[in-house]
Amino acid sequence: MSEVRDAFVLLEANLELVPEELKRHPSIVADAKKRKKRPEDILLDDSKHHLAMRELEFREKRGRPDIVHQCLLLLLDSPLKTFDVYVHTVRDLLIRVDRETRLPRNYNRFVGLMEDLFKKKKIEANGKLLIEILENDFSEILEGKEVILMSEKGEKFSKDVLKKRVAICIGAFAHGDFFDSTLKKLGNYRAISLGSLGYTSLYVTSKVLCEYERVRTSEDC
Ligand SMILES: C[S@@+](CC[C@H](N)C(=O)[O-])C[C@H]1O[C@@H](n2cnc3c(N)ncnc32)[C@H](O)[C@@H]1O
Repeated sequence: MSEVRDAFVLLEANLELVPEELKRHPSIVADAKKRKKRPEDILLDDSKHHLAMRELEFREKRGRPDIVHQCLLLLLDSPLKTFDVYVHTVRDLLIRVDRETRLPRNYNRFVGLMEDLFKKKKIEANGKLLIEILENDFSEILEGKEVILMSEKGEKFSKDVLKKRVAICIGAFAHGDFFDSTLKKLGNYRAISLGSLGYTSLYVTSKVLCEYERVRTSEDC
């Protein structure tokens, strides 16, 4: 049986291709044409498709791939290899990002890579599977771990939270709350708060990662 490892899970990340209902909007068509791609093959991005997104359902939680890009760079930079990294998207896909992935630091290159991922379902380099869209649901990646949901409304964070094997879940969107359907998929989770203010996903990821590294490193001493 494989060893249970910790996990960081970016939840409801704003990472999706342009949805069917927007693919004919002039701002999307123009952007796709400029990039020599089909509208349905480009990533939805609020900074470019703001006008098109006006009527989109739960739009405040969509079109911000920059949030997941920043959080992933931070997590993958950690020298501590005791945790795996997953991205759950707002359209309910589950993505595994191998810790050896050298993610592009340039945002436009990251967008191109994610568009490739959605097309091919996986990204490989030198025969190694680096990023893949998983077939499995949450239960497999959460198995054997205590699920920690970072939330303004949780119990106060303390390092004891990190005593067990954990799956640390952080929302990767700009505004709004988690969908009930996502919370249901997490099963029994513990909501943990860094305070009553709403912080950015990047700040929360960096703060928790820092504490996580401190706890796991002192464990080894
Ligand atoms: C920008 S927030 C999400 C939106 C936020 N509810 C709002 O409307 O501004 C991104 C994520 O960071 C985490 N987060 C934000 N503030 C937090 C806090 N005070 N304590 C723990 N986690 C927090 C949560 O996981 C949240 O989903």
